[in-house]
Amino acid sequence: MTLSTFAQKLVIWQKQSGRHNLPWQVQDPYHVWLSEIMLQQTQVATVLNYYPRFITAFPNIESLANAKEDDVMALWSGLGYYSRARNLHKAAKQVMSEFQGIFPDTREHLEKLCGIGRSTAAAICAFSFQKREAILDGNVKRVICRVFALDGNPIDKKFEQTLWQKAESLLPESNNMGRYTQGLMDLGATICTRTKPKCLLCPMNDICQAKTQNLIHLLPRKKEKKAVPTKVLYWLIITNKNKQILLVKRPSKGIWGGLYCLPTFEQLNDAQQFLKEHQLDLNDFEQYDEIKHRLTHFLLLITPFLFTSVEDIHLHAPYEWVNEIDLNNKALPTPLVKLLAQQKVF
Ligand code: ADE
Repeated sequence: MTLSTFAQKLVIWQKQSGRHNLPWQVQDPYHVWLSEIMLQQTQVATVLNYYPRFITAFPNIESLANAKEDDVMALWSGLGYYSRARNLHKAAKQVMSEFQGIFPDTREHLEKLCGIGRSTAAAICAFSFQKREAILDGNVKRVICRVFALDGNPIDKKFEQTLWQKAESLLPESNNMGRYTQGLMDLGATICTRTKPKCLLCPMNDICQAKTQNLIHLLPRKKEKKAVPTKVLYWLIITNKNKQILLVKRPSKGIWGGLYCLPTFEQLNDAQQFLKEHQLDLNDFEQYDEIKHRLTHFLLLITPFLFTSVEDIHLHAPYEWVNEIDLNNKALPTPLVKLLAQQKVF
């Protein structure tokens, strides 16, 4: 196989069968950057619900840089991995202060912005500036490992280096960088999937070495899943007679930094103490099923207790009574969004 065969096949396939007409398939680097950050660890279908609202609220880099962090976080509520939103906000400020408000157009400069790694910088360069830069996210690694039957330990730095070199060697010579890059992403997301890949529909099926060697199910090698410790949390869902719910703004550092959450306790005793201090009847609650929520370094086991229509209790910041409408405009942790969608609390 000549080196360019891969790129040629990919570009032709993308034109015929790739994903088109996505709202971020434009040249403007602000739009491309935002979409690339949202699409990290998140499906296209989900991002389609968030991206237009974000662009409407913050149509350009300047409006994002000048926004209040709470407003940025609120538009991210439910997307998860909130450091992405905090970094986005910081990066917008960086573009204004360090790059005179003009989005950088080289990988080197893009990588200086908060939250932009090598692959995201390369994607922005390829989509917005037609630069010959290689991307290598999880989907692309899978495609490359399979087509070229590359087997290695996924956490080994040398193997990672090999994959970057391979990705660079495959780049087309021509000016099709946007389509080529989108094609790689599309192939990994829709055809060369982790389980049940659709090899019959794959443009690489005649050159795929993993297919010839019957290695598709073995490549790429899985990362060993680290067992993570569990952490127990107790949540208090407290509503008052004015149909408001008690929220607390979390400190900016630590889990769910800067998000609004329910009063949260690691010890049942502390939860009881809090209730006692506010003259809430310890016995007058409804207990919900435990929620399991995996974070990068913890498995959270959350037990929510519901206290409805309590007498007004006066609390200061970071506590806040919030009505149902305002609740929709707050950035909440993903498991709380899910809980509120499942359980009627008002
Ligand atoms: N995943 C990451 N970037 C993407 C893009 N531009 N289109 C579709 N899926 C993606």
